[in-house]
Amino acid sequence: MNEKSANYQSDIHDVKYETEYLMTKLDCTTLINTTGRKRESLNGMWNFAADWYDSARRAHWYKEERFNDKDMEQPVDWDFEAWDRIQVPSVWNMQKPELFYFEGSGLYFRTFKYIKCYAQEKVFLCFEGASYQTTLFLNGEFIGTHDGASTPFSVEITQKLKMENRLIVVSDARRKSERIPMENTDWFNYGGVYRDLYLVRTPKFFIKDWFVYLVPDGTFSKIHVDVTCPQEIKCVKIIIPALNIEQEVKSNEAVIEFDSKELVLWSPENPFLYDVYIKCAQDEIHDRIGFREIRTQGNDILLNGKKVFLKGVCVHEDHYRLGKATKPSIIRQTIRHLKEMNGNYLRLAHYPHSRDFARIADEEGVLLWEEIPVYWAIAFNNSESFSDAENQLSELILRDRNRASVIIWSVGNENDDTDERLSFMSRLALRAKKMDSSRLVSAACLVNHVSLKIEDRLSEFLDVFGINEYYGWYDPDFDKLPAILRNSNPEKPVLICEFGGGARGGQRGTVDDFFTEDKQKALYEKQVAVFKQCPYIAGITPWILYDFRCPRRTNRYQEGFNRKGLIAEDRETKKLAFYVMQDFYAKID
Ligand code: GCU
Repeated sequence: MNEKSANYQSDIHDVKYETEYLMTKLDCTTLINTTGRKRESLNGMWNFAADWYDSARRAHWYKEERFNDKDMEQPVDWDFEAWDRIQVPSVWNMQKPELFYFEGSGLYFRTFKYIKCYAQEKVFLCFEGASYQTTLFLNGEFIGTHDGASTPFSVEITQKLKMENRLIVVSDARRKSERIPMENTDWFNYGGVYRDLYLVRTPKFFIKDWFVYLVPDGTFSKIHVDVTCPQEIKCVKIIIPALNIEQEVKSNEAVIEFDSKELVLWSPENPFLYDVYIKCAQDEIHDRIGFREIRTQGNDILLNGKKVFLKGVCVHEDHYRLGKATKPSIIRQTIRHLKEMNGNYLRLAHYPHSRDFARIADEEGVLLWEEIPVYWAIAFNNSESFSDAENQLSELILRDRNRASVIIWSVGNENDDTDERLSFMSRLALRAKKMDSSRLVSAACLVNHVSLKIEDRLSEFLDVFGINEYYGWYDPDFDKLPAILRNSNPEKPVLICEFGGGARGGQRGTVDDFFTEDKQKALYEKQVAVFKQCPYIAGITPWILYDFRCPRRTNRYQEGFNRKGLIAEDRETKKLAFYVMQDFYAKID
């Protein structure tokens, strides 16, 4: 119990200073669907300082109190308008050399004008992504706190707005054992407000969210529509002009039937998107949606009723100049490299990538695995950690469930098969299924190294069984791989979610020399030779397309990068193993 004595001062004595900011959580229940809505951007140059001791929250800097309760002026330590500036969106690690390894709290400040446009409008402050815990303050008031470094969040600020507004954002990037992910990962922990942030105005009664998808029953003749709006909106109209659909929907949920011969199915070969409008008396939204069906049958994955082999590769959201702050041009470059490799599928590891990725994959015809960072040794017995993971999963699904390119939700990566983990991740898998019955649920699991079999108790809750294996690299006994595949008899599709080995681009040597392109190439050739013999593998994503930053990787060939990429971090230097995959995928139709 925090005893308070006569000389108590909150800013220097309150050890549990964060508690008050956890009373108002921004989460999947406050998130609104902003697709297609007009964005009033708050991107740009903000005042910024590293908040080394978390003083903004400890000492309530956001109140900007220059006078005490006796109206006498007092000295202050903050000076927002005089501070240095930083680009939003960005990661501070790549903007400020002195903050390259900084993982604490960054304090962002800017002003913005607000003029009401419509009589009863509502105004929402919307973030696409900021690490890890984001605490918001507007005009001297605490607004709310969001947990999760890679999912969007929003909050209504209508009643807090003035003509001139002062906005403070605290981005706390610390790694903690109870967070998702916890403090030990194999990627660089970038910090900051690194994705777009903007205002959205809606009518007083508005369409908060929608989910429009092809019912996966093999008939290709039913579209399920689920619209989230307040009871004041009595009915909505669904309009899909190219399908001659214009139908009123009284309740918030409906199934609309149509002549399947009219439907152009979305696929990598033909990424056709329909204009979809949802209208009511007070509001209207527009989205561009592809209709396709994804389901499994035995060991096969069926896209639109036909077996599909997922010819893919893993990617991190990491760029050697921009860190985690990606751009559409970088996403399109990644897709160009995938297609150059004759691929049709990407595993977006290990956390939700930018919203732009699925939007662009819809247009370019790429299939996606999206994942939440339930990575390695999470605090599986901590209920708050579960709530955090479940919320990140929910925010990801709400954000991308109208994107045809997304075919798999992954609830984690390489977790020890314990009872706590089984309880934690099976509940996540069930949550994903409950929120979205139209997609597959998976996870990147580990094989049983003792029985040399593909087995993991979590698989009962998965539609597709993902496995990571590093035979020929971490485990030099390569012969275990064919043995495991022979010993196993999975009833559902198996994806090889990771395999690979490191090589520094341009480093040559023998097939036994670590970190040479020759060894990496030989490893890939042995791996694909084994995959060719296995009838139940439904897809492959080697680890990884590009070398990526990681502080754990410190030997002379890695220099702070994980070098298992098929292309170096310059996103140009292709390694010999790239061509092994290009050739392998070219031969698979
Ligand atoms: C693991 C893990 C990756 C990691 C990779 C590696 O499989 O899932 O995040 O980077 O191995 O060791 O390179």
